[in-house]
Amino acid sequence: MSEILAKSYKNTRYKLDGNGKYSIRQLQIPMENVDEDKQIDFYGNGAIINDFEDKIAEMLGKDKAVFFPSGTMAQQIALRMWCDMKQIYRVAYHPLSHLEIYEQDGLKKLHNIETVLLGEQDRLFTIDDLKKRGTDISTLLIELPQRGIGGQLPNWDELNEILDYCKKNNIRTHLDGARLWEITPYYQKELKEICAGFDSVYVSFYKGIGSVAGAILVGPKEFIDESKIWKRRYGGDLISLYPYVISADYWFDRRINKMETYYNKAKELSKYFNSIDGIYTIPKIPVSNMFHVHFSKDVDNINKILAEIMNKISVGITPYLMETKNTWMFEICIGDSYEEIPKDILEKCFQELDTNINHR
Ligand SMILES: Cc1ncc(COP(=O)(O)O)c(C=O)c1O
Repeated sequence: MSEILAKSYKNTRYKLDGNGKYSIRQLQIPMENVDEDKQIDFYGNGAIINDFEDKIAEMLGKDKAVFFPSGTMAQQIALRMWCDMKQIYRVAYHPLSHLEIYEQDGLKKLHNIETVLLGEQDRLFTIDDLKKRGTDISTLLIELPQRGIGGQLPNWDELNEILDYCKKNNIRTHLDGARLWEITPYYQKELKEICAGFDSVYVSFYKGIGSVAGAILVGPKEFIDESKIWKRRYGGDLISLYPYVISADYWFDRRINKMETYYNKAKELSKYFNSIDGIYTIPKIPVSNMFHVHFSKDVDNINKILAEIMNKISVGITPYLMETKNTWMFEICIGDSYEEIPKDILEKCFQELDTNINHR
């Protein structure tokens, strides 16, 4: 059934979500202006990679950074190293953490690390969830924002209460910052301030930033030096990573200052969805550029309705729907595409949605 959605979505002129089609242009555009004699990197060394690492370490306020091909690799390595240091092979995180649901049990199978799931799937964990669990964990991983529940965030005081508790109880803290850039407008904090309470941080360059792929891990110098050894063990120390670095650096410079716009547009778009009976967003008011859209199961033929509207108005709403207990849902991450939609076309799209769901 989702095939009709994917097809209709693909053919639309405008899209609510993202930064445009993912294609070789993520690499081609940044490469256009690169001098063909530019010195490339060699096994993690060379200005092309090290300058970018230094730039990100400085922005995040940490000693040192290392570029990884993926966040999956960077985070498993970070958690393994913290466990080795404490000789406690147990880490805690949200039940919908990327490590728990998308990484084929890498932590458990490669490192024998036990995972502790804090709180419930459908909400953020709290300081009480953590206190109940006791302190026999090496590391707490906090994902900001928590993607699996629409990109929710703890408020600033709650976050710092959790971080202080960990510090007092000698629990290391690691930030899964796959979408860290996207949350500075909500917290109204510098990146450095958000990262200050964490021992290590991972960031991504292909989500809100829209590059090809790639991640950076930052932390104390000795920790990052050791992570390079693990990067080699993992087969992640490619002879050259410059295509990823050039793409990451290029799109980073072009999009890092747009996060406030994306956030404001996400709030605007969520209002359109929430104004229609039978549709709601989580969170109701977004706290980053992302949110989840839910359709009540009382709405008949939602696939057909969405496909017809996309065909008629040429605004891509979603290429898929996922079933939950009581709803059909999809995810929105605002990027450059949203702003290209003329206001009258956007409004027409939501009028059609309302008419088809509630007034047919
Ligand atoms: C929250 C979160 N953490 C980690 C990752 C892993 O990143 P990568 O795809 O670079 O391995 C992702 C990827 O989607 C993610 O969403």
